[in-house]
Amino acid sequence: MNAPPAARRTARPVLPPTHGVPMQVGLLEQVMRLEVQAYPFPWSRGNFVDSIAAGYWSHCRITEEGLLIGYMVALRSLEEWHLLNLTVDPRWQGLGLGRRMLERLAHQARSESGRSLWLEVRPSNLPALALYERFGFQQVGRRKNYYPDHEGRREDALVLSCMLASGAGAGAGAGAGAEPAA
Ligand SMILES: CC(C)(COP(=O)(O)OP(=O)(O)OC[C@H]1O[C@@H](n2cnc3c(N)ncnc32)[C@H](O)[C@@H]1OP(=O)(O)O)[C@@H](O)C(=O)NCCC(=O)NCCS
Repeated sequence: MNAPPAARRTARPVLPPTHGVPMQVGLLEQVMRLEVQAYPFPWSRGNFVDSIAAGYWSHCRITEEGLLIGYMVALRSLEEWHLLNLTVDPRWQGLGLGRRMLERLAHQARSESGRSLWLEVRPSNLPALALYERFGFQQVGRRKNYYPDHEGRREDALVLSCMLASGAGAGAGAGAGAEPAA
C-alpha cells in the first residue's frame, strides 16, 4: 500500500553506502565544491594540496557512484591528533555521517597509539559543537580573535579535546577499538 503523502514528505533520507579513501589531488574538485558550500571562510585548494603533500592523515567518504559526501583532515603530533577539517555534504548532514567519521578518526588514532583528539571550533558553529560535545570532547581553552568574520571583526576559537586512552571518545555508543562504519 502506498504511504499517505504526509508520511512520504517526512520520510528521513538514508545515507548512501560509501567507502573510505585518503584524500588525493584527483578528488579536490569535489572537495572544493563541498568546502565552499559548507564554510563561510573555506580552505583554499592550495590548503588541501599542501595538506596532502605534507602527509596529513585524511579520509574521504565516496558513494558507489563516485560522489564525495564527506571528508576530514587531521595532523598527527606524537600522541595528539588535531582535527583540522571535518565536512559533510550539506545535502547529507544530520544523518550520522559526521559522528561516524569522528569514530573513524578515533579508531585510526588509537591504532597508532594516539591518546587524544584536539580541534578548534567557532562558538557560533552550534551543529559542530553539539556533535563534538556529544562525542565526548570538552572545552579546554579559548583562542581570542582566531577566526575572521564577515563584519571585518574576529571570532574566538574554542579549543576542545577528547581523551582516547580510557576508551572515551567512542561517542554515541561505539565501542573503543571497534572498526567503525565510516
Ligand atoms: C558539523 C558537521 C560535520 C556535522 O556532521 P553531520 O553528519 O551533520 O552530523 P551527525 O548527523 O553525525 O550528527 C551527530 C550529532 O551532532 C549534533 N548535530 C549535528 N547537526 C546538528 C544540528 N544542525 N543542530 C544541532 N545538533 C546537531 C547532534 O547531537 C547529532 O546527534 P543526534 O543526531 O544523535 O542528535 C556538519 O554539519 C558540517 O559539515 N558542517 C559544516 C562544516 C563544519 O562546520 N565543520 C566543523 C568545523 S569545526
